[in-house]
Amino acid sequence: MSRTASPPAGKQPPAAKQPPAGDERRNFLEKVGAVVIGGLVMLVPAASGLWTFLNPLRRKGATAEFVRITPLAAVPADGVPRLFQVIRDRTDAWTHYDSEPVGAVYLRNVDGKLFAFNAECPHAGCMVAFLGDQKKFQCPCHDSSFQENGERIDPQHCPSPRGLDPLAVEVRDESGTQDVYVKFENFLAGSSKRIPRA
Ligand code: FES
Repeated sequence: MSRTASPPAGKQPPAAKQPPAGDERRNFLEKVGAVVIGGLVMLVPAASGLWTFLNPLRRKGATAEFVRITPLAAVPADGVPRLFQVIRDRTDAWTHYDSEPVGAVYLRNVDGKLFAFNAECPHAGCMVAFLGDQKKFQCPCHDSSFQENGERIDPQHCPSPRGLDPLAVEVRDESGTQDVYVKFENFLAGSSKRIPRA
């Protein structure tokens, strides 16, 4: 059987040692400093990622660039617009996509001179159709119609605020065949001005 030793009568045990007040203040300030610096280190990359996400102009792939569309032989020089899909690699803020459809264009060859139009209607972005028997483009959504050269038919009553968007086009011979390349880009719908869209 064990016994706990009691201090001799009249003597108190020594009090636990307290650090001096100056040391306590220094420790506190060091901890606060570490928290503030740690917060700043986390904040800088988070803010830069957020800025990239919110600002589409900073995303890669936002710029217009020439894309191979089709062999020139697929666009006879008869003046009839023909529809082609636009396929290219695409990169957004974080991901790269190989060979994705990104839009469509009409190509028109008038006696050897090429013209290209974005197939999106400038009113609200529906895809326009070419009606061969009426020689005009027609939008199925709100009935905007356009001439073969892309200009609006009856601009006073046409819902679209502008004609079809023309695109730069050229023929290149990079693989032994003549191919049509178009500088593909989209423009904001609903505006009378052509404002590139990311
Ligand atoms: S989207 Fe073409 S007329 Fe409205």
